[in-house]
Amino acid sequence: MTKNLLLLGLIFCAGIRAEEETPAVDLELGEEINETCAGCHGEYGQGSIDGEYPRLAGLTDAYIARQLRNFKQRQRINIPMLPYTNERELPEEDLVSIAAYLASIQLPTKLPPINEAEFDALKRLQASKKVVNIAIYPGDVEVGRKFYRKECASCHGSDGYGDDNKEAPQLAGQYSRYLLKQVESIRTGDRFHEDPDDAEIFREYTDAEITAMLAWLATLDDG
Ligand code: HEC
Ligand code: HEC
Repeated sequence: MTKNLLLLGLIFCAGIRAEEETPAVDLELGEEINETCAGCHGEYGQGSIDGEYPRLAGLTDAYIARQLRNFKQRQRINIPMLPYTNERELPEEDLVSIAAYLASIQLPTKLPPINEAEFDALKRLQASKKVVNIAIYPGDVEVGRKFYRKECASCHGSDGYGDDNKEAPQLAGQYSRYLLKQVESIRTGDRFHEDPDDAEIFREYTDAEITAMLAWLATLDDG
């Protein structure tokens, strides 16, 4: 009898724990939390044009959540975000909600054509804040295309927009300067990429190849 009760208790506790591990997504909560993130990443998660702050909008919820957990566990060092990525400021429930909220934002790559009859300058200004189109990056686009197809496409997608299993993020539509900084961090081993050997592999790629790849990636959202 006592043994059965104990067993029941164990099953019950395990049930609660399982629930704690996967809190429900609350998009309204995500929108609220975004007010904090907006200070750096912009109101729509569009990032900053100079590439200091990456775009977050439209990245997958799984990828955003994983990075936030990496920041919390200090597996990926992000000093500006230290005050925001601890258990008190960003418990798991908040984390999954902000990740889902940002993933749901779609950013157009160009402004819609002007409708003379309904022109509203303020609305147009608001809409323009959401437009993200990566600026041309100087480099040999054709060399970059070949390099990317050979070395990166298998995971980051042949169109640059990530893979279906949500592991590798889109590189197209992301700011070149931010991407270059990540490549440097992967080379020095400060940021883990996919495999422990990647630091060395990334060091073997020439700067010209990386530059060319960034030049090609910057063209992918122009269509
Ligand atoms: C004080 C400025 C600041 C604030 C506020 C901030 N971030 Fe960041 N965030 C950064 C910087 C800088 C980076 C780029 C770090 C790097 O270069 O590796 C970054 C990177 C990220 C990344 C990684 C993106 C990628 O492509 O890997 C995610 C995800 C992220 N931030 C989410 C958030 C969320 C969610 C919030 C709000 C809870 C937030 N950030 C608030 C500065 C900020
Ligand atoms: C075997 C699969 C694989 C290949 C091949 C691959 N990547 Fe990745 N890449 C990943 C994964 C997975 C991540 C996410 C890592 C994480 O969770 O932090 C990533 C992340 C990145 C990031 C960080 C993006 C961001 O938003 O912060 C950059 C930059 C990057 N990869 C560049 C490259 C380049 C350049 C190549 C080709 C030379 C390449 N990758 C090849 C799997 C791959």
